[in-house]
Amino acid sequence: MSWRRSFALLLFAPVAACAQGVALPDAQLLQNPLARDGISLNGDWRVIVDPYENGYYNHRYEPKGDGYFVARRPASPADLVEYDFRTSPVVPVPGDWNSQDERYFFYEGTVWYYRAFEAAARDGRHYVLHFGAANYAAQVWLNGRYLGAHEGGFTPFEFAAGDALVDGENFVVVKVDNRRERDQVPTVNTDWWNYGGLTRDVRLIDVPAAHVADYRFVLADDGSVAGWVRVGGVAGAQAVSISIPDLGARTTVRPGADGVATFRLDARPERWSPASPVLYDVIVGYGDEQVTDRIGFRTIETRGEDILLNGRPIFLRGISIHEEALGREGRAWSEADARALLEAAIELGCNFVRLAHYPHNEHMLRMADELGLLVWAEIPVYWTIDFNSDAVYRKAERQLDEMIARDANRASIVLWSMANETPISDARFDFIGRLAAHARELDGTRLVTAALDTQTADRFQRIIDDPLSAVIDVIGINSYCGWYGDLPADCAALRWHSDYGKPVILSEMGAGALAGRHGDAAARWTEEYQADVYRHNLAMVDHMTALRGLSPWILKDFRSPRRPLPGIQDYWNRKGLVDESGTRKAAWFVLRDYYRARAGDGS
Ligand code: GCU
Repeated sequence: MSWRRSFALLLFAPVAACAQGVALPDAQLLQNPLARDGISLNGDWRVIVDPYENGYYNHRYEPKGDGYFVARRPASPADLVEYDFRTSPVVPVPGDWNSQDERYFFYEGTVWYYRAFEAAARDGRHYVLHFGAANYAAQVWLNGRYLGAHEGGFTPFEFAAGDALVDGENFVVVKVDNRRERDQVPTVNTDWWNYGGLTRDVRLIDVPAAHVADYRFVLADDGSVAGWVRVGGVAGAQAVSISIPDLGARTTVRPGADGVATFRLDARPERWSPASPVLYDVIVGYGDEQVTDRIGFRTIETRGEDILLNGRPIFLRGISIHEEALGREGRAWSEADARALLEAAIELGCNFVRLAHYPHNEHMLRMADELGLLVWAEIPVYWTIDFNSDAVYRKAERQLDEMIARDANRASIVLWSMANETPISDARFDFIGRLAAHARELDGTRLVTAALDTQTADRFQRIIDDPLSAVIDVIGINSYCGWYGDLPADCAALRWHSDYGKPVILSEMGAGALAGRHGDAAARWTEEYQADVYRHNLAMVDHMTALRGLSPWILKDFRSPRRPLPGIQDYWNRKGLVDESGTRKAAWFVLRDYYRARAGDGS
């Protein structure tokens, strides 16, 4: 069966934009925030580390009316004020406090962020404080006025500033708390560092009262371009213009009472692909505002065990990537970080990256569009989430909404992953099944997947029989033959069986090694051992008849509290093909040569 993810002809979709492919997201986020008018609030912020949340609660553990968020200063020499942002330490934003000051390396708790800024608050404008992400929970005040809260460490959020913004000097205070809790997404146990902070771009966006709020562009079934635009502020007052100048295509449509206008453009864009990552400037105009974005057009579907990109079978030569910078400690967040990570993947011979285990920053997705890398994007429903809690489900769904709302225009994303290595249970099946159905409602133009580590195994075979395989379009398999069990030499003979008739991606395989540690291939942690595991696993994948891609674990060594082994790990997970300084290990060349051979024969 061909699961063609495409776009029902909007002309026949009576309800605006609720056609097969591109429903209106529940998360209301301004689309393309970094391209909007406004001011960047990146740069130096003042911080107060507050493990007892003294800036929020009084000694009776009651919320204070005049907590740190009012940023008070002594009114007189007799006045008692026991904090002062203006003389507190400075940290750069975006950033994670763990890598910015060794005193905060292991810190989990609250840090208060403060930034003063000048703004011209003009009538008839709409001001929005936009955060690319804050891990894990954030509360935001503007000039002492509470704007709102957000939970989830890897998706954007924003608040209308309203009349809290004044003309001239303003200050913003953010309480960021990265404590892990059982009812969060992810939950308390992960194999990555719990980096806390304002980890992505912060911007005060300044748009007209009547503005472009959101839009979606897709390739329609007949190869033309269709989609919808949602306007904000004064809806329906004016027409929306949509154009793709390089295709000579232009149309105007009127939003309905709900602010939504659907459109079709008589345009025939070239297809986007890794070999030809063609992006088009699309321009959406409404009232006094024009928003320009760069968008690629392609189709993705499965047919039996094949993945078809633009109607042709493709093999995904990938690598997994955590959101850590190459060449320095801490979270990756910038365009330069994105370029460094993704160009390394291209040097490895990849046409695909698995951005694990959570939505990465927007620069990564836009860079993947530009460089031509297919993307597996994922929400952090990781390991032992509390699948019995509806509150936890709502958190996971909210993060899915925010990821799709932000990234649904990115041609590079072909897979939405619902989960990673979750234990089999009825509650987990229902939880992830609901998420998959919701993802398809929001965006029927992509494939749904999940990474599973629950195969039936014996020494000579693995049987793919996780019930979740029936719900997803592409089956992700995490398997560490030669590292977690089995001898490396056993892997080449290992055989895999699947009766699902669906594509399989080996979403994780690999082994650890300390760069520069050499010895016998039987000795763990040597580069020779890791390379040997790769060689035997790559021999194995050549016998996986349903395999249509792999994303070995992982591009770069990354920080993890689960990896303390002195002299070898020192709180680094050493399964990277390069270490934290970018030194390539022997296994890098094994995988690179394998991908060169596959690319050479067109697969
Ligand atoms: C798991 C998990 C990763 C983890 C890796 C490892 O498969 O998905 O997040 O880092 O194995 O053990 O290194």
